Amino acid sequence: MQLSAKLLEKYNIPTPRYTSYPPANYFNEDFSQERIVAAFAESNLSQPQNISFYIHIPFCGKLCYYCGCNTHISKDQDQIKKYVETLKKEILMFKKLLDPTRKISQIHWGGGTPNYLPIEEVEGIMAVFVEHFAFIPKAEIAMECHPAHLSFDYIDRLVGSGINRVSLGVQDFESTVMKAVNRDESIIPIAELIQYIKSKGAISVNLDFVYGLPFQTTESFQKTIEKATEANPDRLAIFSYAHIPWLKKAQQKLERYELPSAEEKTNLFDIAYKTLTSKGYVSIGLDHFAKPQDELSLALQSKSIHRNFQGYCTRETTGQVYALGVSGISQLENAYIQNTKSITSYIKAIDQGSFAIEKAYFVDNHEKIIREVINEIMCNNFVSLPQIAAKYHLNIEQLKNILTFEEETIHQFEKEGLLTYSENRLEITAMGQFFMRNIAASFDPKMKTNLKSFSKAL
Ligand SMILES: C[S@@+](CC[C@H](N)C(=O)[O-])C[C@H]1O[C@@H](n2cnc3c(N)ncnc32)[C@H](O)[C@@H]1O
Ligand code: SF4
Repeated sequence: MQLSAKLLEKYNIPTPRYTSYPPANYFNEDFSQERIVAAFAESNLSQPQNISFYIHIPFCGKLCYYCGCNTHISKDQDQIKKYVETLKKEILMFKKLLDPTRKISQIHWGGGTPNYLPIEEVEGIMAVFVEHFAFIPKAEIAMECHPAHLSFDYIDRLVGSGINRVSLGVQDFESTVMKAVNRDESIIPIAELIQYIKSKGAISVNLDFVYGLPFQTTESFQKTIEKATEANPDRLAIFSYAHIPWLKKAQQKLERYELPSAEEKTNLFDIAYKTLTSKGYVSIGLDHFAKPQDELSLALQSKSIHRNFQGYCTRETTGQVYALGVSGISQLENAYIQNTKSITSYIKAIDQGSFAIEKAYFVDNHEKIIREVINEIMCNNFVSLPQIAAKYHLNIEQLKNILTFEEETIHQFEKEGLLTYSENRLEITAMGQFFMRNIAASFDPKMKTNLKSFSKAL
């Protein structure tokens, strides 16, 4: 597969990543604490089956210059302790609102660097969940970890406290790249870490990489990805570097280097894609890869992959997501609710018994339908408009009027080899996967009037 420069230029335009619909920059301040509490309580009725919790640990030891996450560089142990105590209080606030018959199917620890917490704090938080909630069998308890902060003893206690999926942020194996972005490398070799984590009983290990960083070349990145496959992870995420220096000031430090162009970035992803698929990994959605027997690959076959801010997941285990901690976003059937990014405001609000909300968005019925179409494209490379129309008791024309559906645009994508389209069913080709965000955006009415800023698609 060779991507043409013309297509790359045409489609490398600011486009949402569609981790939510509408995208997070539509969230606003038009809410009240009462409405938020009511939305959490009502969520018991809209999709009662499971509960997912997201816990945001903002702390990191050192700032990686490329970082787009919500982080706080801190060595202040008192502040970290106080933050953990506040998280525990927030869990109990949710306990009061959530139907006690609902069980936890998923807990995702994200950050920042969750494993920057002393291990006793992780154990303490897990104990609160276990005391106050029931779990489904084989609930997914996942943690994003910085490998440089992992020791064998820490892993023993992490798995002992119930963490059964670990994601390691590798980013690149090249020291020159890591030095340029101010990131510490793992002391224990990644292959050894993976082997040890699995030997302790964890179900799955993922590795994160980022392409588009200084000094990366196709040769160096191929070596990195080959080394990654030798370490035998269950999944890999190959993220396109999102350069948003107007939001993340430290990213300006990378502008002194020549950052890879859109074409170079696509070549980097392309080499990763070829290396991983030739080793048997299955490409999932925008940027994930999984072993063929991994449940994500099986879910792709049955077109039942789902996606939230935490990444791709299987529908079987995903519930509505309730977010704990600064900047966390609760993802309910009817609303998105984002916590404040300020640690001080967060602690103060929770101490006073209020949720610490900064922004929210209440999703209307049309937006739910658009969200479903976009999710199908982004997750399953496929969308059947007749199936979605039937689900929402619409005819095809009514559905097309809710979307921005233009036959001409679809046929253009088809001519470019990005998808196949027949009888109102659309299937994305292997080449189309590179332009998935653009295809999804073509169904999004908000893109017509959009004045928001997004990172570029490639
Ligand atoms: C919260 S971090 C993972 C845990 C830990 N803090 C670490 O760095 O290993 C989440 C992941 O987001 C990715 N990431 C961070 N900033 C990014 C950016 N600007 N563009 C694309 N991916 C990014 C990295 O791959 C990183 O591993
Ligand atoms: S990439 Fe991870 S460790 Fe680095 S600053 Fe961001 S969250 Fe912290």
